[in-house]
Amino acid sequence: MNWNAIPEDQPTPSLIISADIARKNIRSMQEYCDQNSLKLRPHTKTHKSIHMAKEQIATGAVGLTVAKAGEAEVMSQATSDILIAYPAIGTSRLKRVTELAKSNQISIGIDSQDAAEILQNAAWNAGVKLGIMVDVEVGFHRTGVLDPIRAIELCETVSKHNALTLNGLMCFPGHIKPSSDDASWDAYSASLETVIEGLKVKGIDAPTISGGSTPTAKMSHRNRFLNEIRPGTYIYNDLNEVRLGVCDWDDCAARVLATIVSVPEPNKFIVDAGSKTLSSDRNAGNPDAGFGYVVDYPTAKITRLSEEHGEVLIPMEQFDVTKRPKVGDRVWIIPNHVCVCVNLQNHFYLIDAGELVAMPVDARGMLV
Ligand SMILES: Cc1ncc(COP(=O)(O)O)c(C=O)c1O
Repeated sequence: MNWNAIPEDQPTPSLIISADIARKNIRSMQEYCDQNSLKLRPHTKTHKSIHMAKEQIATGAVGLTVAKAGEAEVMSQATSDILIAYPAIGTSRLKRVTELAKSNQISIGIDSQDAAEILQNAAWNAGVKLGIMVDVEVGFHRTGVLDPIRAIELCETVSKHNALTLNGLMCFPGHIKPSSDDASWDAYSASLETVIEGLKVKGIDAPTISGGSTPTAKMSHRNRFLNEIRPGTYIYNDLNEVRLGVCDWDDCAARVLATIVSVPEPNKFIVDAGSKTLSSDRNAGNPDAGFGYVVDYPTAKITRLSEEHGEVLIPMEQFDVTKRPKVGDRVWIIPNHVCVCVNLQNHFYLIDAGELVAMPVDARGMLV
């Protein structure tokens, strides 16, 4: 089955995934990692699916990345080696994390002495060991220890805590794009180098150096310190990645199938996919470019979303009278940001080996 063979009675809006494209993306990222001696620890926030996580592990991923405790619980059905690349602070969250650590290898990304203290106490009280990745700021300016000296001190603290194990350093290079110059890559490397050299001097072992977003993933060899990457979006890709030049349309495994429910003007139509389906995320590189790409009307723009309405405008000068949108027609939309779109769906529909199968979004809405 391909995109054009979806049965007429398929409900809309629905998120449809091509298993062939997702598998191709999984394989291609794994091949890049294997060729460059990098461990791949995919971030599962994109698919939130045990089925997809198992495919990533079966293809060679060393473990998985999540952001939240609930996601870690779900993904423990696919691997026992999980990095929570997020400071897992909060009593209820830590209860769940330490419970999980009784039968899984759990690492947590932290960037403060306070977090080290809190995690040490939680792990000690629960009688478990937690792995720690010290989050180093490399230019994205979100979490991450800013000052290399403080990062080294934090590693030292962690290595002295008996319920914690320092597994290494992590960072998120979300500011680096395919168009970024050598200077940005050099600065990214330098941020890690200072910390790594400082740890060597102190004799502190930090075996894993984990970085990588989807836009930087296949250029990770440009940072000679990395030995692990954590891309997430690459499995499905989206309009953000296409517009960044990271992938082609053919690499987009996820599309929303929508129905035209109204044509209030000849060149304007309304689809049954609004912000509750596509998310209100604007295009990362071009915020005024609309809320997704309408495959069937390439020049059209999704100009406005209500919760259940998507308004699509075809520029009059590009309007083709032989291809007038009609009420009842179905259209394909590639979302701006697939991760948020997936998290809005109870199910996705997988086109696999000639069949269309409804699959749960297992870790949907896991915010804790
Ligand atoms: C800590 C961390 N690691 C990895 C990723 C994956 O990056 P991408 O979404 O570009 O695949 C993210 C994405 O937000 C992240 O926050």
